Amino acid sequence: MAKPIIISGIQPTGNLHIGNYLGAVKNWVELQNSGKYEMYIFIADLHSLTGNMSALDRREQIIRTAVELMAAGINPEKTVFFVQSHITEHSELAWIFNCVCPISELERMTQFKDKSERQVKNINTGLLTYPILQAADILMYKAAKVPVGQDQIQHIELTRDIARWFNNRFEDYFPETEPLLTETPKVMSLLEPAKKMSKSLGEGHVIELADEPKVIEKKIKKAVTATEGGGEAPGVANLLLFLKNFADKSVYDQFVEEEKTGKIQYGDLKKQVSDSISSYFQNFRDIREELMLDHDKIAETLIVGAEKASAVAKKTMEDVRRMVGVR
Ligand code: TRP
Repeated sequence: MAKPIIISGIQPTGNLHIGNYLGAVKNWVELQNSGKYEMYIFIADLHSLTGNMSALDRREQIIRTAVELMAAGINPEKTVFFVQSHITEHSELAWIFNCVCPISELERMTQFKDKSERQVKNINTGLLTYPILQAADILMYKAAKVPVGQDQIQHIELTRDIARWFNNRFEDYFPETEPLLTETPKVMSLLEPAKKMSKSLGEGHVIELADEPKVIEKKIKKAVTATEGGGEAPGVANLLLFLKNFADKSVYDQFVEEEKTGKIQYGDLKKQVSDSISSYFQNFRDIREELMLDHDKIAETLIVGAEKASAVAKKTMEDVRRMVGVR
């Protein structure tokens, strides 16, 4: 029996950080290694055009994201690993979906509203039609499931609607995709632990997977552990979350116990967290460094991935063009 198809993508907008890792990438690697699925992972470079990044940064960041995903465990032999813009059919399918999706559905998307507020000087049409391209990414490969974070669920629901609108208007062709929600912890900012860890808050708020041990130590030292007005400290919970994921269970259990009994020393906790993160990502840093020296190999890997994706995309678009009557 054919394996269920899974697809997910990530924008090449910054180095991978612990929030991306625990929230998405780690889960992708586990799904990939389970052998139960046909996996597609891609770099959403076209989506990144809706932001303000320069062409130079984008070009560099696409390669870096590819390198980092591979260093984190995405294996191009097991996963169809490619860059979105290499498959021009995504844009073509997005156009067709534009023509089955009411504008009002796009205008109510939370991410559109958020991003319009965040980049008031650049509310481009791509921000509005962003989920249409996302639906094209997903439905191109007739994915059954999409592992994404909570913030993307609305887009997956819209993808189902788009499939339904298309199927009703033309032919019953696209599947109804489901989000694949695995329990992923919510990683908070180091300096403002009430907010989700995000590069847009600033350097000191995130730990990048590529950070050297010294940098990790410095950042964790500055991490906020104080409570505002008493009660449970979200910054401490965040540090314990790191231990839970990056240290041995016994170490984690010990600190949790100390926290409960009030014996915890935040200095010790921070030292342990820094050490655990540093050693957990040692392997990542080594592979990343090695791959970064070989841009040709990365480019080659992405071309091979694009060839595999392209075979599927070509077939889908041949069908779609016929169904909508342009062939
Ligand atoms: N919008 C997703 C994000 O910001 C990235 C993305 C683009 C994506 N296309 C996709 C995710 C298709 C899953 C499937 O995280």
